[in-house]
Amino acid sequence: MRDAAGAGIVVRVPAKVNLVLDVGARRADGYHGVRTILQAVSLFDYLSARPAPSLTLTCSAGEAIPPRENLAWRAAELLGRSAGVRAGASLRLRKYIPSGAGLGGGSADAAAALIACARLWQLDWSRERLADLAAQLGSDVPFFLWGGTAFAQGRGEVVEPLPALPPWPALLAKPARGSPTPRAYALLDAVDRRPHPDPGPLLAAVRAPAPDRGRVIALLGNSFEAALLPARPDIAALRQGLLDAGALACVVCGSGSAVCALAPSAGWSRRVSGRLRAAGTWARAVHLWPGGVQTCPEAAAGGEGAPRRRWRGDAPRATGPVVRARGVT
Ligand code: C5P
Repeated sequence: MRDAAGAGIVVRVPAKVNLVLDVGARRADGYHGVRTILQAVSLFDYLSARPAPSLTLTCSAGEAIPPRENLAWRAAELLGRSAGVRAGASLRLRKYIPSGAGLGGGSADAAAALIACARLWQLDWSRERLADLAAQLGSDVPFFLWGGTAFAQGRGEVVEPLPALPPWPALLAKPARGSPTPRAYALLDAVDRRPHPDPGPLLAAVRAPAPDRGRVIALLGNSFEAALLPARPDIAALRQGLLDAGALACVVCGSGSAVCALAPSAGWSRRVSGRLRAAGTWARAVHLWPGGVQTCPEAAAGGEGAPRRRWRGDAPRATGPVVRARGVT
């Protein structure tokens, strides 16, 4: 819905971590089957969309790729083409989620662009319909339309929203070097016997009326660790350093290179992330986040620089449908 002043829409979208990630065999289409429990965390990218005759994108510093190769631009272009929209949009992306980290930053931005442009262009598309386009853009993109806690299968695009876990404190940290996703999958394919952490027990723990943090922590796991920890001493050292500092558990985020520590307290996260940053390592104190893309009409928020915004977004459903994107296997 475009606001009365005809101004734009601002959306924010959280990063994700994988509480458990079981990577199966490479499929005929080159993708790997996965079974994963995804969890949004409170680190956000922001995207504003304003009316414009054509589609443009500007991105905050550090993103060197041309606008047309940015997943947010491609998402807006795909939505416009699919919906037969003639109008354009002026997109402005402010990135805080680092790339090459396994935190889903590019995918999050694509989901943000779908929601922002659907609102800007006054398209009455359901999230399920947007999820079809989301899956064409990337395996992780549909998740961000719901966010919170979710079970994903297929190549990651078949998303089942779960009851959101409580806002437990966590810490994200990333070595200087990223971990490109295709390379991480190739590295994993070269490992003889990869571990298959089972999402089943964690699914049961997440669905419990009052999820037990100790139980959840005991069930974290990621197939990629078997490939990444031996090949990337920087990731292994960061993970071990966080455990030594008192993290309750620490798991590699997706295909790396970030790691996520479940923290004994929010104060611990702040202290340890501060120490890491002082030593030149990217680190953020976060907590588990119950939603996905959230919108905020720009005019109602008092302009893009407004300090206080009222964010709106669908809370994840207590029990969600399996959302299978059409035309994608
Ligand atoms: O789906 P997305 O474009 O994010 O995937 C990027 C790359 O990661 C793919 O080209 C593929 O090499 C690898 N990938 C995979 N199996 C998945 C997801 C991604 O092999 N389930």
